[in-house]
Amino acid sequence: MSEILNLSMDISGKIDKINDRIREVILSDNDKLTEMASYTFASGGKRLRPLIILLVYEINTKEPVDFALNLAVAFEIMHSASLIHDDIVDEAEERRGWPSLYRKFGLSDAIVTGDYLFSVAYRIGASYGREISEVVAIAAKKLAEGQIEESSNLGNFNLDEETYMRIISNKTALLFASGAKSAAILAGSDSDEIQNMHDFAYNIGMAFQIADDILDIVGKEEYTGKPPFTDMKHSALTLPMIYALKHSSDKEKKKLTDVLSGKKTDKDAIEAAKEMLINTGSVDYCIKVANSFIDRAIESQKHAKLSPNLQTLFEIAYSIVSRVRI
Ligand code: IPE
Ligand code: IPE
Ligand code: MG
Ligand code: MG
Repeated sequence: MSEILNLSMDISGKIDKINDRIREVILSDNDKLTEMASYTFASGGKRLRPLIILLVYEINTKEPVDFALNLAVAFEIMHSASLIHDDIVDEAEERRGWPSLYRKFGLSDAIVTGDYLFSVAYRIGASYGREISEVVAIAAKKLAEGQIEESSNLGNFNLDEETYMRIISNKTALLFASGAKSAAILAGSDSDEIQNMHDFAYNIGMAFQIADDILDIVGKEEYTGKPPFTDMKHSALTLPMIYALKHSSDKEKKKLTDVLSGKKTDKDAIEAAKEMLINTGSVDYCIKVANSFIDRAIESQKHAKLSPNLQTLFEIAYSIVSRVRI
């Protein structure tokens, strides 16, 4: 967590509770499955989604935060399951600083581990009753729709911003939103509060994915725990690339499309594409767009009473974009 967040609140107690509960609920009757599931969480991860869920829950109720712990953990498990599958789809070699699961244990077992973890998340969701289990299931449905729409557009140099926004909304932002929404439902909030918490988390989710897409270009591996240029090498057009292709000469465009199309794979070509992305101002543009989502997140709370938890949620929101400053 510390690598992205500099929070005034001490959140280590919450993170410890989340990690302890994850370790309990992922245990399987099959030792190999337990080993693979445990590997996924032992390698790290910021635990951003479950932290938001616990903070949102506490704002809206006087009940002990432990009542929401399983819910928080369900969303982190679903997120991590999606990353196992995502690394297969993206052919990404590293995750959370360690070899990605499919590289460590093989493709078939990694697919099944992802499926297993989704089932753990749904089971927890179901334990909270129909309304929350529906929110959990819809988050997974949207995630799949986003991932497939992204795959369908690999190598599409005409991808527009609207389509990109729909993809990241489905694959990333709605998971954040569903987590916060279900925490507010569980806390017994009224429908306005539920909607506002949904909107808060949705908008930081949008900013988060844009920041992640910038970091894929300018981020350092020791900081992100993921190899850079995965999107570019995989022909996945992200917002910086969409902007750069629209705002550059044919000669400049070629530096990027040569790498995106797989025509050039050498280090120099990738560096030239990176330079081109920075020189066209695409990183600055994306930071601006990400900040506009953060503004919307903060705006969603304009009627909420300021509390230490809300302050912490705001600090999380601001740190999402500040981590990509170059
Ligand atoms: C990575 O999410 C996937 C995206 C939605 C960009 P995180 O950066 O939150 O991944 P972990 O959980 O900290 O590893
Ligand atoms: C996020 O997409 C993954 C999911 C939402 C499932 P990315 O492919 O951009 O995430 P990273 O960069 O691999 O973490
Ligand atoms: Mg990926
Ligand atoms: Mg991906």
